[in-house]
This record gives sequence, structure tokens and C-alpha cells, in this order.
Amino acid sequence: MDFKEAVGWRRSIRYFQPWRPVEREKIQAILESTRLVPKPLGVDFVRSLVVYRDDLSAEDLEALKTPTTTSQLDMAPVYIFWFADLDALSRAADGANLKALTDVGALPATHGWSDEYVDGVVVPQVYRRILEDPEVVSMPTAGGEPVNYSRSLVAAARTAVGIAHAHALLCAFDEGVGTQLTALNASRIMDVPSSWMPASGMLVGYHAESWEAGGQRPREPFEDDFFEGRYGVPFHRDQAVVDELEKAGMIQPEAPLPWRRKEIRGLARMFGLPE
Ligand SMILES: Cc1cc2nc3c(=O)[nH]c(=O)nc-3n(C[C@H](O)[C@H](O)[C@H](O)COP(=O)(O)O)c2cc1C
Repeated sequence: MDFKEAVGWRRSIRYFQPWRPVEREKIQAILESTRLVPKPLGVDFVRSLVVYRDDLSAEDLEALKTPTTTSQLDMAPVYIFWFADLDALSRAADGANLKALTDVGALPATHGWSDEYVDGVVVPQVYRRILEDPEVVSMPTAGGEPVNYSRSLVAAARTAVGIAHAHALLCAFDEGVGTQLTALNASRIMDVPSSWMPASGMLVGYHAESWEAGGQRPREPFEDDFFEGRYGVPFHRDQAVVDELEKAGMIQPEAPLPWRRKEIRGLARMFGLPE
């Protein structure tokens, strides 16, 4: 599958083959893809915990459910819990991460980078300002009581996990498995450092619904959301580009495909779910 196909075939999958495990190497590939995401502030914020449904007790499994995550949890054999480590920036406050990037030529001298620039400018003017931001948010950390963290630190950490989510989702489809990002009530089964801020989890499993899953899901019109030159001037959507992207498999027929209702009825009967 090439990149455009992976984008095109990604859906939030809500029916998985509960009986079919996901090969460990596919889960590893998903994790590997998230190691390579761009890092806000040059810091590795993202953490994850892979949990196998069949290792959980019935009570723990039930406790994970939320109003928006129900039967799909019984079906998916693998859950990946994602976190951002809110202590990652204070651990990086010696600038070592940035100096390593300078050493390998990723942050080049042509752009002003050097060890002295890291120590004299970036750490005090960027890292320290973020860490000492007087505006704080009370974060429900995974391990216990809420803790106050700087608002700008939390924003950077959230961005990091969001980008990791995107890589992980696309990599899963590229590996031939379905996924859905989802809210999970995970505190009961979590035993992770208290600085790990929980983010949306990910269900992974082989599709029980078709790959089309009823078609690509509705989005706002392109020109309502994207602008060119200045706000108010819609970015003109060239139909020739759309045609090319359709040929490449990135833009696919929109939901609902005419047979979706029947597919859902069939799935409901197969899994004994309400119709
Ligand atoms: C951070 C995040 C959290 C989400 N949480 C849930 C969830 O708890 N339950 C759910 O059914 N879908 C969840 N979704 C999936 C969205 O509902 C879905 O992306 C949207 O309906 C568009 O469909 P698509 O992903 O198939 O394009 C989440 C998506 C994101 C990005």
C-alpha cells in the first residue's frame, strides 16, 4: 500500500474479528512508526502501553468501556494506550536532545545552531519559559491525583501524541489491520508513572466489516475549511487534482455506500448486537 492508499483506506473501524490475533510484528511496526514522528521542542514525549484483550479480566474489560466505546472493545484483540510524559521536557532541560540534533547536522550551524546557542538561548528562552509558564492546567495523570503543569507544556505534549496517533493509524492500515482511536476508562488497569498524561487509546484488529466500512466518512466542504492568500478566499479545489487522488485511492466514495445498512444488519446478527 502506498501513502495515498493508506490515507484513503483509513477509517475508524468499529467491527473487528474477535477471534483473530494481530501479529506482534505488526504492533511493533505501528510503534516503530510513532518513534519517527516530528518531536515538538526536540523532545520525546510519546509513550505507549500495549495490552492484549485476552489478558484482562472480564471486570477490567467492562471497566474500560465509555459511552463512545462499547462493543468494539470486546471485538478488538489489542489495545494501545497512548500517553505524553509531562516530565520529558524538564528531563531535557540540559539541552542534550538539541545538542544531539546539532551534532548529527539536523539543526545546522547555517541556521544558528551550536551547543552555545542551545545553552545560552534556546534552553533559557524557550524551554525555561515553557516550563515556568505561570498559566497552568490541572492534569489528570495516569497514576493518581491531578497535578498542575504549564499550559504551554501540555499543549506541546498533546501535539506530540496527536502526530503519533496519525502515524500509528496510517501504519496500521498499511500493515493490513483496522484501528479506531477511542476514549477508554483506563485508570483501573494503569500502573504507569504519574507524569504520563493519558491520551486517546487505539483499538487494533482485523476488520470484521468491509474495508470500505460504508465509505469515507462525511467531512465539511473543502472550501469551507481551507483558504489561500488571506482568510475569506477559499483555496480553489481543482477537480483534476481530485480525479488524480481518486485514481490513487486516496479519495474514495463517500459514506453511505448503498449496501451499508445491510452490512450493519449482517454484522449485528453475526455478533448478537442490537439492530
Ligand atoms: C482523538 C480522537 C478520539 C476519538 N475517540 C472516539 C471515541 O471515543 N469513540 C468513537 O467511536 N470514535 C472516536 N474517534 C473517531 C471519530 O469518531 C472519527 O474519526 C470520525 O467519526 C470520522 O470518521 P473516520 O475516522 O472513519 O474518518 C476519535 C477520533 C479522534 C481523532
